[in-house]
Parts: sequence; C-alpha cells; structure tokens
Amino acid sequence: MIHPDVKEVLLSAQQIEARVKELAAEISADYRGREPVLVGVLDGAVVFLSDLMRALTIPLRIDFVKWSSYGDARASSGEVQMLKDLSFSVEGKHILVVEDIVDTGLTLRYLLENLHTRDAESIAVAALLDKPSRRRVKVELDYVGFQVPDQFVVGYGLDFAQRYRNLPYVAVLKPEVYAKR
Ligand code: PRP
Repeated sequence: MIHPDVKEVLLSAQQIEARVKELAAEISADYRGREPVLVGVLDGAVVFLSDLMRALTIPLRIDFVKWSSYGDARASSGEVQMLKDLSFSVEGKHILVVEDIVDTGLTLRYLLENLHTRDAESIAVAALLDKPSRRRVKVELDYVGFQVPDQFVVGYGLDFAQRYRNLPYVAVLKPEVYAKR
C-alpha cells in the first residue's frame, strides 16, 4: 500500500533490499580481516545502517553521530553543527561512515574533517543515496546505493519535517503536502 501523500515511488523496497545486499557483499569483501566501526549519521541513516549491518558478514561495531544542517526546512541552510558525538574512541580503527543521502555534501565534509582529527586507521563512506546535482563541496563516496535526481525524497529513513522516515521505499511527495508547511 502506497502512502496517500506519495506522488511517486522512486525506489521500491525490493530494489533497495537488493542493492543493500550488493553493497554489503562488496564491503564485507573489502574489509575482510578488519573490524570496522560503522558510524551512522543520525537520524536519517538508521534504517540503512540497520539493514546494512545485518547483511555484512564481517565483525563490526556501531556508533552514531548527529550533525544537523536542515532543521525542518527542505533546503540546506549551509550551517552544520554537531549535536551528538561518537561514544567511544576510534583511534586506530577503520571507520565506515553510513549516510542515507549526500546532497550538498556539507554535512559529510564537516563530519569527515572532524573524524580526520581522531587518528583513525582509515575512513570510508557508504551512502545509500547520492544527489550529485546539488553538490556544493567535493566529497569522496566509496560505496553508493543509488543516484537520485534533484527532487526532495522521503522514506527509508529520510524525512520531510520529521515525518515519512518509516516508509519502506524512497518516494517523492505530492506538491500539496510540501506546500502545507
Ligand atoms: C540529511 C542527511 C544527511 C544530510 C545530507 O540530514 O541525513 O546527513 O542531510 O545533506 P547535505 O549533503 O546537504 O549536508 P539532516 O540534517 O536532514 O538530518 P536527519 O538525518 O536527522 O534528517
């Protein structure tokens, strides 16, 4: 059943599931013999991280950070601040940052700059969605699920005004839903 506020499903639950499994196989092979720390970027990455970690076949740890750029608006303010830091030291560890979407790249750039000060052994990035048309700063993505067009997307962790994160697919909402705010 498609949510009544949805105009179009861009990525179905089945498509996402299949792609997450492919990414997990690739990451499991690349990290063989290592035990990465998956760093989920709250809140949006929780769904991707929870599916990805269960599909990985290597030992791993998880931690979370929270950086905020959007508030409740649909366009990035360009200001990014840390709201929650890592819970344990990552010195000498292999960090795999897990993001739901990379849009302007600002959140990731600030996060990576911050992580680079912590003497990790390696830092890589897995993003379920990449929206390259909106990029404002260059960031390296090691694992990408899908490229998406320049449309505001929700679902599978992504929100509009904190809602719709629980949709099992990635979708575009009807224009009147965005206009209500
Ligand atoms: C979203 C998303 C990324 C960031 C990407 O987070 O989860 O972290 O924006 O945008 P950028 O590349 O333009 O920086 P948001 O700040 O909306 O918080 P949320 O994950 O809690 O929804």
